[in-house]
Amino acid sequence: MAYLVKQSHRAPAVTSPVPVDESLPRACVIGAGSSGIAAAKQLHLAGIPFDCFEQGGDIGGTWVFDNSNGRSACYDTLEINTSCPRMAFSDFPMPADYPPYARHDQVHAYFEQYVDHFGFRHTITFDTTVEDVSRSTDGRWDVRVTGPHGTETRTYDAVLVANGHHWDPRWPEPAYPGAFAGEQIHAHDYRSGDQLAGRDVVVVGAGNSAMDIAVESSYVARTTTWSVRRTEWVLRKFLLGKPSDQVALPGWLPWRVTAARLRIGATYAGSMTKYGLPAPTHKPGQSHPVQSDKIRERLDAGAVTARQGIERLDGDRVVFVDGTTAPADLIVWATGYRVTFPFFKPELVSAHDNELPLWKRTVHPDLPGLYFIGLVQAIGAVMPIAEAQSAWIAETLAGRYVPPADDVVRRQMDGEHRRDKKQFYASPRHTMEVDFDHYLWDLDRELKAGRERAATRAPSPGSVPAPAPGGGGPRRTLARLLLGAARWKTVGEVPQRGVLVGAPHTSNWDWVLTMLLAWRYGITIRLLVKKELFVGPLGWLLRRTGAVELDRKNPAATIKELLAEAEGGDSWLLGIAAEGTRSRGDYWKSGFYRIARQTGLPITLAFLDVPSRTVGWGPTFHPTGDVSADMDVLRDFYADKTGFNPDGFTPPRLREEDRA
Ligand SMILES: Cc1cc2nc3c(=O)[nH]c(=O)nc-3n(C[C@H](O)[C@H](O)[C@H](O)COP(=O)(O)OP(=O)(O)OC[C@H]3O[C@@H](n4cnc5c(N)ncnc54)[C@H](O)[C@@H]3O)c2cc1C
Ligand SMILES: NC(=O)c1ccc[n+]([C@@H]2O[C@H](COP(=O)([O-])OP(=O)(O)OC[C@H]3O[C@@H](n4cnc5c(N)ncnc54)[C@H](OP(=O)(O)O)[C@@H]3O)[C@@H](O)[C@H]2O)c1
Repeated sequence: MAYLVKQSHRAPAVTSPVPVDESLPRACVIGAGSSGIAAAKQLHLAGIPFDCFEQGGDIGGTWVFDNSNGRSACYDTLEINTSCPRMAFSDFPMPADYPPYARHDQVHAYFEQYVDHFGFRHTITFDTTVEDVSRSTDGRWDVRVTGPHGTETRTYDAVLVANGHHWDPRWPEPAYPGAFAGEQIHAHDYRSGDQLAGRDVVVVGAGNSAMDIAVESSYVARTTTWSVRRTEWVLRKFLLGKPSDQVALPGWLPWRVTAARLRIGATYAGSMTKYGLPAPTHKPGQSHPVQSDKIRERLDAGAVTARQGIERLDGDRVVFVDGTTAPADLIVWATGYRVTFPFFKPELVSAHDNELPLWKRTVHPDLPGLYFIGLVQAIGAVMPIAEAQSAWIAETLAGRYVPPADDVVRRQMDGEHRRDKKQFYASPRHTMEVDFDHYLWDLDRELKAGRERAATRAPSPGSVPAPAPGGGGPRRTLARLLLGAARWKTVGEVPQRGVLVGAPHTSNWDWVLTMLLAWRYGITIRLLVKKELFVGPLGWLLRRTGAVELDRKNPAATIKELLAEAEGGDSWLLGIAAEGTRSRGDYWKSGFYRIARQTGLPITLAFLDVPSRTVGWGPTFHPTGDVSADMDVLRDFYADKTGFNPDGFTPPRLREEDRA
């Protein structure tokens, strides 16, 4: 379902102290903005020992007007650009009497209430700056802080970085040629119209900051010119009387559906070309959304003049690339922000041109124990993402979640990074852009997979057993109904968990059936599927089911990756082609043997037998290496469960490498 927080989602207040489990890893949270408090809340409720350091005297970061940390870009007309139900934390709706898009002071008040509601204000140390974070000799993290009581260094197992990424102004680099006689400020230092009153103002940039400042300027300045080097699709805040972001789609839908929604919104809002700007060179959905109802009004009223990019500065005028000029005694550069971490040595962590690839935009694969919270640009709000990231890391630290193998993490990270780069036009403002609903859905999926991995491992101290997989849910119900209608029966002991590996030769219908069975029994499913199937709607469906592209030249590599990804299991399930059981048993056996030989893990046999409409589970056993003896086990099991004696089974067609 799409993310919309309702009043009924409000969690009960936490009124009694939450015990801290000192045996769990100790963590440090940097910052108490919306991301830092999301992290602190999750760690607090999970009983994880931690400190949260906040440079300023308040919580809320950006949303604190004139924040004593000197870093907030908040201005007096600022309101959120995602509606309240899309921005609120999942278990704490914004007050019911807030407007659809809350003002900055309301947002700040909301964060204050959040901290008190969940009772963790005492965990935050204010007016204390994290100055240095470096790796200690034992691989943990030394954190040097300076506060009212002086400087000290503490050592932590984990550091959750939530220092924000909209505080370090990005000025044009290189600077525009020419000399300017007036004043120049960055949008970060803009607070109110007083700074603009009676002046000739040029506002530069096409983001949300630029539009808000240009609108305000249009009421108080002598002239307002808005310079845009790349035209954006300017969305409206309301669609048919409702906040437009509430027409939200479930995260499992492909990106192109969200892009289509944005395209409809952009068409409805109308083009900016009538104001003299060139048409955008990108499609809606290929950039960070910008929205303003007022900018059009002020352009229509002639109170704002839109101009193209700047060519040069010329004393008391700005010259634009189309040769036009505008008077100027104040330039407001609303040119975005740099992502920086003053407490890391650049060789340890830095984000040149705002690039910092991370796994699920949170985990640095080279630096265990280092996590980034809220370091995203979302097509949606940052807060629910920071909350989901924090919940995930809290489960990791509590031992309830186990990540996949390192190479899987890196492969996924590279893939996600490549996908995001393709999705949005190249600009430092898009290096961390994520599709909000898809991100939340994907992280939830990963969390569930990691819980299952954790459940198959020996419990670590303080860990809580993961819930049994499956449960209810629409998928399970659908599968139960469909299989029931087709009169499929089950024999053998259905495993509690495992990875179902479809044999490389599995045919299309077989994998549909296999998928249904996996849903029915709540088993994690990974299917090996031919490369050619990853096209069109079928390919999309396959990717959604977690299918894995089979490298036909080297299927063993794919299997290895799959197994590495789901490491930690003590039992493996081998899904068998339905027709293959009877007519192509050799494939069954060779697939089974290959996996067994490569992993050394015990295998749980599974078969689908179409003629008798039977799915069989078990037994779990270690192949002995004696092929014919192992085949006897398999044959007996199959004959016993189906009544069909597969005399015709030929010995497995093992490859040379499988025999080795
Ligand atoms: C003008 C503006 C409007 C925005 N509007 C929206 C919106 O409508 N919706 C949305 O989702 N996002 C919006 N954003 C994005 C914004 O980044 C997020 O809303 C949100 O504030 C991010 O929270 P954060 O905690 O990650 O960062 P911040 O709010 O920047 O908080 C970081 C905190 O960390 C502290 N800190 C930093 N370094 C240290 C240190 N070394 N030691 C100790 N403490 C430290 C800071 O003092 C600060 O309190 C907006 C951004 C801007 C600039
Ligand atoms: N709640 C709100 O209403 C609100 C208000 C303000 C800001 N915000 C949020 O705050 C974040 C920052 O927004 P922002 O508008 O400050 O920055 P931004 O989204 O990064 O936009 C920067 C703009 O400046 C342009 N630019 C960059 N360098 C330039 C240069 N050298 N010359 C001319 N133009 C240049 C960019 O163009 P290119 O695209 O070509 O790089 C882009 O149009 C965003 O997440 C935004 O949504 C929200």
